[in-house]
Amino acid sequence: MSKKQTKISSGKNSDLDIIEMILEDHKPLKELIEVMKDSEKEIEERQEAFAEFAPLLVSHAKPEEQSLYRYMKGDEELREGGFEGDVEHQLADQMVEEIMRTEDEDLWSARVKVLAELVEHHIEEEEEELLPDFRKHSESRDRERLGQLFLELKTKILERGGMDAPHERDSHARH
Ligand SMILES: [Fe+2]
Ligand SMILES: [Fe+2]
Repeated sequence: MSKKQTKISSGKNSDLDIIEMILEDHKPLKELIEVMKDSEKEIEERQEAFAEFAPLLVSHAKPEEQSLYRYMKGDEELREGGFEGDVEHQLADQMVEEIMRTEDEDLWSARVKVLAELVEHHIEEEEEELLPDFRKHSESRDRERLGQLFLELKTKILERGGMDAPHERDSHARH
């Protein structure tokens, strides 16, 4: 409690702030989205990008729902954004599952493009509206507490397997 004053008055986001963590997570997702939505690219390259994107999305979206969105849904001013975020995540989940089951290449290509655009738009809204609103309606100690939670949830998902540190393979997705 005694630290409250210094934390708030520092003004800047620390690395423990959930906003910083979310922005960091968005970077590799955005790079993969660029490849996935580009139907001029070789299908193999887009397939590789999608294979990397899908687990990365899960290990970002689930912790986000259970920390940030949950917090937002409990705040009168923020709740609409939290619910909308959940709905958009559900849509993306459904599309990812559909894409995994799609064998026809043209249909696969169309679905991946639509998914990429959906998530691109979602991330844009999050960065331009939702996170700034959240910043206004929270204090740095809330953002650090949520950052801690976000990290714990993410670590759990990554430990559960099938989610091997995709960022290490970034170079693949970018040729
Ligand atoms: Fe996000
Ligand atoms: Fe999100």
